[in-house]
Amino acid sequence: MGKKNIFDALLISSRDLSERYSMLTLRLPDSIGEMEVLPGQFVEIRVTDSPSTYLRRPISICDYDAAERMMTLLIRRAGEGTEHLCNLPIGAKVDILGPLGNGFTLPAAGTSALLAGGGIGVAPLMLLGKRMRQAGVNVTLLLGARTADEILLLDEFKAIGNVAVSTDDGSLGEKGYAADNSVLNRRYDLVCTCGPKPMMVGIARKAHATGSPCEVSLENLMACGLGACLCCVEPTLKGNLRACVEGPVFDTSQLLWEL
Ligand SMILES: Cc1cc2nc3c(=O)[nH]c(=O)nc-3n(C[C@H](O)[C@H](O)[C@H](O)COP(=O)(O)OP(=O)(O)OC[C@H]3O[C@@H](n4cnc5c(N)ncnc54)[C@H](O)[C@@H]3O)c2cc1C
Ligand code: FES
Repeated sequence: MGKKNIFDALLISSRDLSERYSMLTLRLPDSIGEMEVLPGQFVEIRVTDSPSTYLRRPISICDYDAAERMMTLLIRRAGEGTEHLCNLPIGAKVDILGPLGNGFTLPAAGTSALLAGGGIGVAPLMLLGKRMRQAGVNVTLLLGARTADEILLLDEFKAIGNVAVSTDDGSLGEKGYAADNSVLNRRYDLVCTCGPKPMMVGIARKAHATGSPCEVSLENLMACGLGACLCCVEPTLKGNLRACVEGPVFDTSQLLWEL
């Protein structure tokens, strides 16, 4: 695991992608030195000036440019904390702890990977897809949402690999759930998924049926993010593991899910 830091980052851009989703770009301070980020890792953000938001909020690292010291976060307005983050003015200081957790496996050049994200679950797949493409992995992306308006960053994902889409209402791509998309009918050297649990279970079942190894990023409720409070534990073949330290990425063969 890389070095963990607490630092103030500077909000340099905040862009609404839709009614519910915003993309924040932060410049990291020089004081933290070189910071390694693994795709799948997250940060914990302190929400200041929000009296009812005591705990830091866990947010995946969507993109990271070490040379430019830029970090991008994709945020869904879920409640008071995330609403507050989406409404921060440009120039605001954002108190960040991270990077935290483990990351997805980066397969070897020439292999194939399917990256499947539902809703806000697409966030960690941006950095993962970019790193895989740089490593010579043949990347297919599967994006799922309720409706076309909630398919996020489509052009950016198209720059990474082939993109398949599922919407519940059929307004873009195949009609139905992402877990039923036809792109899941073939075998991949690795399937990585992040999104609502029923979607991840469905994707993991398809991966299992085609003999594709599968890694999932769990969004278990978190508080400390540092392995101390145990509120994020996930039962696994190795006992209860902390999603914030031993995860959030787990190989589905280690989980007690019925596949
Ligand atoms: C590893 C990880 C990565 C995540 N990545 C992102 C991301 O990239 N972008 C994003 O928008 N959201 C992400 N989330 C979810 C995000 O942390 C929650 O939506 C946020 O904490 C809600 O806070 P709130 O104050 O806005 O809403 P609240 O009013 O506190 O809650 C609204 C909803 O969010 C859920 N929630 C609340 N607190 C947490 C928590 N500490 N952990 C998880 N869920 C919580 C609640 O169950 C509730 O359904 C991630 C969660 C985890 C665990
Ligand atoms: S959030 Fe405290 S142990 Fe994981």
